[in-house]
Amino acid sequence: MIETFEVQTLLYGGLSKHPYARCLAIKFSDDPKQACAWLESIEDQITFGDQPPADKVLIFALTADGLKRLGLPSDVGDSFPTAFRLGMGSPGRANLLADTGDDKAGTWLWGGPEKAIDATLLLYADSQTTLVSYASELSSGIDAAGGKVLHQVTPTPLPKPRPGETAAQMVREPFGFADGISQPIIKGTRRWMRQSDAIHAVEPGEFLLGYPDTRGFFPPSPQVPAAMDPDNLLPLADPKHSRGAFQPDFATSGAAAARDLGRNGTFLVIRQLAQYVDDFNDYVDDAAKRYSGHPAVPDQLDPELLPEWIGAKMVGRWKDGSSLVRYPHGPATRKHEGAAFRPDNDFLPGAEDPLGERCPFGAHIRRSNPRDSLAPGSKDELSIVNRHRILRVGRGFDAVGGSDPEEQKPGLLFMCLNADIERQFEFVQHLGHSLAVPRIGKRSRPDHRSWGRHGAADDPIGARPAEPDGDKGLRPYARGSLPLHAEQECDSVSRPDRECSRR
Ligand code: HEM
Repeated sequence: MIETFEVQTLLYGGLSKHPYARCLAIKFSDDPKQACAWLESIEDQITFGDQPPADKVLIFALTADGLKRLGLPSDVGDSFPTAFRLGMGSPGRANLLADTGDDKAGTWLWGGPEKAIDATLLLYADSQTTLVSYASELSSGIDAAGGKVLHQVTPTPLPKPRPGETAAQMVREPFGFADGISQPIIKGTRRWMRQSDAIHAVEPGEFLLGYPDTRGFFPPSPQVPAAMDPDNLLPLADPKHSRGAFQPDFATSGAAAARDLGRNGTFLVIRQLAQYVDDFNDYVDDAAKRYSGHPAVPDQLDPELLPEWIGAKMVGRWKDGSSLVRYPHGPATRKHEGAAFRPDNDFLPGAEDPLGERCPFGAHIRRSNPRDSLAPGSKDELSIVNRHRILRVGRGFDAVGGSDPEEQKPGLLFMCLNADIERQFEFVQHLGHSLAVPRIGKRSRPDHRSWGRHGAADDPIGARPAEPDGDKGLRPYARGSLPLHAEQECDSVSRPDRECSRR
């Protein structure tokens, strides 16, 4: 059973009832005592549990640097997983995450070795006034404690849902697509009790440290020696003594055993991604002209919808969130205008669209979560693929909200939670970038980007057009590294799962 009130509220959803949000990226004072005193001063405000207060919510996350600055001994720091310790801006991870060229860490607005941060505060509020006054109160506290707010992102306020509309349907990212629809459902949460959709259900250990994952193992969690926990606040790190599927071991004492510092925690990945909306729209308009009359375009498609259809082929869903697998010829809301509609998410692309004729293999959603693509309808494949799920809790921002004085671009404050950064976030990100390379040959290039001109220009709809595009575009539509959307090769989808099942 999940210790619900020990877990920060963000794990239970993207806080759609708190439309106003801000992310503060902060640096602590160099004096650990001052930094710890500040943290103690805000400790009571951090929001735990699945029933957050209606007015405001505070989520707090530390980086490896932040833990050091608070005085965590280096041997304890070393027990954190490598991806967290190194951070995504470390040179060793740049190739894996495709943070190279224009996207290399040195160009980031914040984070990475040059603009390292110690912690982030995520503020959510029911009104603009509450958000602004809370943010200013917290910022003053940080200044007074010798710290600094290095960067802030203010997502676009969420629109109020119209009657019959779900939160997932009303939240649109800057390209105009409904976002936040397909999420894993953690067993034991309220959401699971309401909607225990078998194809998305996962064990708590996929997202929470200290709980068994889908294979019955505990995700890697940092540990501290017993001497550092004199009041016995932390559970024992060895599940035999404290909890888990095993019987407690009464034969030996756990008094001196290491303690689990991570229990009820999770890893939050944040990436601020700029989106080139005009370029994206120009591309789909241009591609629509080129594809008009192409045999791959279904006869049933209203010609007016051709540009949206091209975009939908890149994402795998129409702008209203309906899937291409189930609605190949037009968005669901167009068909049933005015009727209440919840974007569908129980489709199985392997069983329903095995050749990728509706939703290309390279579409963003099929690549990020292939479901049963390799073995149509297979429960085994779903359970393997579900080992790589992430819980997305990001929000879009407009040209000003990203606080980038030079670019002034809208974008996505991509945020996701996972228990194992390497197996989950990094895997999905990596899946999007590198796996296509060995098979793409002349039709693409290794710097192929998701939402990118390279990928999309080659074959956005998975139709293998006769007419090659040449070197038309050089810039991707979104910067900051995303999974690839527009390349189509069956094998590139299946390879990661084969690798995974061999482990
Ligand atoms: C600007 C960047 C991005 C945009 C505009 C974008 C947009 C979208 C959209 C429109 C959907 C479909 C709606 C939904 O199911 O929520 C989606 C789904 C998804 N995205 Fe992204 N995304 C971006 C970046 C990323 C990144 C960086 C990752 C992970 C590394 C990612 C992983 C996913 C996953 C896992 C899904 C759900 C797939 C499924 O289960 O069907 N996205 N995204």
